[in-house]
Amino acid sequence: MRANPQRNAEKVRLELARRLLGAGDECLSGERLAGDLGISRAAVSKHLAVLRDRGFSLDASPRRGYRLVAWPDALTPEAVLPQLQTRTLGRTLIHHEVCDSTNTLAFSEGLAGAPHGLTVVADAQTRGRGRRGRDWHSPAGAGLYASVLLRPELQPQAAPPLAFAAAVAVAEALEETLDLSPRLKWPNDVQLGGRKVCGILLEMSAEPERVAFVVCGIGLNVNAQTLPRELEHRATSLRLEVGRPVARPLVLAPLLAALERWVDRYVDEGFAPLREAWLARAAHLNQEVRVDTPNTTIRGVAETLDADGALVLKLPSGESKRILVGDVWPVTDPVDETTVTR
Ligand code: BTN
Repeated sequence: MRANPQRNAEKVRLELARRLLGAGDECLSGERLAGDLGISRAAVSKHLAVLRDRGFSLDASPRRGYRLVAWPDALTPEAVLPQLQTRTLGRTLIHHEVCDSTNTLAFSEGLAGAPHGLTVVADAQTRGRGRRGRDWHSPAGAGLYASVLLRPELQPQAAPPLAFAAAVAVAEALEETLDLSPRLKWPNDVQLGGRKVCGILLEMSAEPERVAFVVCGIGLNVNAQTLPRELEHRATSLRLEVGRPVARPLVLAPLLAALERWVDRYVDEGFAPLREAWLARAAHLNQEVRVDTPNTTIRGVAETLDADGALVLKLPSGESKRILVGDVWPVTDPVDETTVTR
């Protein structure tokens, strides 16, 4: 097989990023890096210059060497892979600066036989898709647009709760990394301060008895400083909530780790533990809500999540109704949601 210089250069840069991360606050000398990687010192400084161009902030001193100052806000393999602590999710990472939809690409990869855990990420999407045929506004650099290909051992009817696994995983990542307190809105939005910060789109390819694969698409508003006017009262971004920019790999890595844990746990133990984790963060329990279903609008009190992920609504008549598809809004919200795009 012929050597691929481009791929080798990427491998060297990935290894340099790993070593800089592993060194923490310590400096690494150019000589040591060159010796460890089996390349010249000139090559080390050339590769580090490329990493700098790609957003790695490095201190360099001729006597002490190189020290990592800040991790880049980029979704490239060298920015994401050194942070990853998963077994399989994200280990095969396909990064696009722009694509139509990461879900569409991950679905094609699934049809072509790509493995469990393959993850497609993009800086921008031109045709980002949301639930129920909506668009997902996906401007460059502002969001985390990721689609994870899963091949769980499940029957097709057991696949939809995987969206709850993704919502809980996003919540856990935001709790751990940014000390935030996200709430979950049925079916699988993640909210901060009552505003949507993340949406999840699950798409499946199935045979009659088993899931072939599921694509779990996650759209997280990370560094947007402004939002389109029609969304600004109901959406937010991590940057708006924490008051500073957030490097996307530092959220993506723990998110994929939590997703891996929850997918495995769901396959092994069923929905009960995942249901508990979701209910512990549920946004509108015991509140009066309006649910826009495909056919009608229903009012009631959000009672619980059923054993299969349906929302149980207590109607004014006292009857309990299971909702399988719909959008939930607190009744205090006066806006007509049918005009909103996510
Ligand atoms: C929702 O409507 O709340 C779900 C939004 C899901 C958006 C994400 S962004 C990454 C992936 N690619 C897409 O086209 N959609 C999902």
